[in-house]
Amino acid sequence: MRIAVVGSGYVGLVAGACFADLGHDVILVDNDQQKLAALKSGDVPIHERFLPELLERHRGLRLTFSDNLQQAVRDSAAIFVAVGTPPTGHGEADLSYVESVAREISGAVNDYKVVVEKSTVPVYTSEWVRKIILRNGAEPDSFDVASNPEFLREGTAVTDFLYPDRIVVGVDSPRSEAVLCDIYRPLTDGSYYQERDAIPQPDRARIPAPIIVTSTKSAELIKHASNAFLAMKISFINAVASICESVGANVQQVCQGIGTDSRIGPRFLNPGIGYGGSCFPKDLMAFRAVARECGYDFRLLDEVIRINEEQRQRFLRKVRSALWTLRGKRLGVLGLAFKGGTDDIRESPAILLIESLIEEGCQVVAYDPAAVDRSREVLDPSVKFAANPYETAAGADALLILTEWEEFASLDLDRLHREMKYPIVIDGRNLYRPDVMAEHGFTYYSVGRIPVIPEGLPAGAVDIPRNHKKS
Ligand code: UGA
Repeated sequence: MRIAVVGSGYVGLVAGACFADLGHDVILVDNDQQKLAALKSGDVPIHERFLPELLERHRGLRLTFSDNLQQAVRDSAAIFVAVGTPPTGHGEADLSYVESVAREISGAVNDYKVVVEKSTVPVYTSEWVRKIILRNGAEPDSFDVASNPEFLREGTAVTDFLYPDRIVVGVDSPRSEAVLCDIYRPLTDGSYYQERDAIPQPDRARIPAPIIVTSTKSAELIKHASNAFLAMKISFINAVASICESVGANVQQVCQGIGTDSRIGPRFLNPGIGYGGSCFPKDLMAFRAVARECGYDFRLLDEVIRINEEQRQRFLRKVRSALWTLRGKRLGVLGLAFKGGTDDIRESPAILLIESLIEEGCQVVAYDPAAVDRSREVLDPSVKFAANPYETAAGADALLILTEWEEFASLDLDRLHREMKYPIVIDGRNLYRPDVMAEHGFTYYSVGRIPVIPEGLPAGAVDIPRNHKKS
């Protein structure tokens, strides 16, 4: 099938490359000339596993790039709209990009088209898109509007797309349902997975992919409700972690105990420094705004957001309790991205924490396997960047772990200990076992677990500099 994907951001680029891998002819449309030129010349603008391979495989063949939206619409049977929906000052999603794309599509509808919302949008958006296309002259039966929300996560975007837990297709006509079912058939009949060069199957993949057909409004709500539920799960376990800290319990054991109940499940129960990224914070605000507009006061979401913000403050209190005063302290920071596996720093709790620490007068040396370039653009110029975790730790008063990169979970602890001025690790992602850190002589704070304080030191006291310790 010939498909146009409008917007070459995270979702648009991954969806376009994956549709091409399913055998479709894809035109990726963007009005950013610089971005288009970079994509055409072989650049991969985001750090995402398997994306370079897919772009390399299909670029110029089944995947082309264009700034001509109307031509792309004329040439395609389905148009996926994946433009940005940033938050307004009041937390609602700004739909002006969606509206202007709808307006342009209208003038190019030459035969039956399905216009598909792929961006995360509030309920009723499909109705508005339909109105705008009609208002600008398209015939009522020459197109349908559908909603096909995307559930991919950054860092595993390609495998999430090709091995989805479910495909949600929100349609209001059998005709548009048939088009969308055709597009996803290689995943739903399993034929894609038989191909020799299919992207390898991740753990826990459901094959063939299940498809759920709903109304457009239900599909729009499914997207917001899914993200809100996942964020709620994270805030819930972060709240439980705080109670664990007060009573001396271990949140990891609690997670195991509740996560083995199949009704709850173990995933998205990792406590930490709160969720970040370009989706959860924005989507929760937008969902709250949608609910308010529909006359429902969704206070549960307020609390999810409040706990998330509080989680960062709790972490800062841990840093203070480990170091007493902060001015002039040298802190090594492992992790800048909002999560492991990506170079994205949008709403990254790590960046927000570094900003607070700088305000309190700390000197920060940071390292991230992928997000240094982006961080350099936004962080205070006093922040220094190291080439690896050991250089980050060198001479540090304490080491902070802020992103759950796999690389940070397998450090040579003896070497780390030797590098640091004081062997204090404050782990916002629970990457280490407290007993292992104790064995290696660290003072170790984590989330929802009893801190490790070497014998003779009261909790919250300043550690003894290595040079002054008796050997
Ligand atoms: C999220 C959803 O997981 C995707 O299903 C959705 O498609 C996407 O938003 C979107 O709407 O576009 P993403 O933001 O890429 O995906 O990342 P997640 O893996 O969900 O992580 C979000 C944040 O929660 C990160 O800061 C992460 O560190 C944090 N997190 C996640 C936790 O603190 N604990 C957990 O157990 C899981």
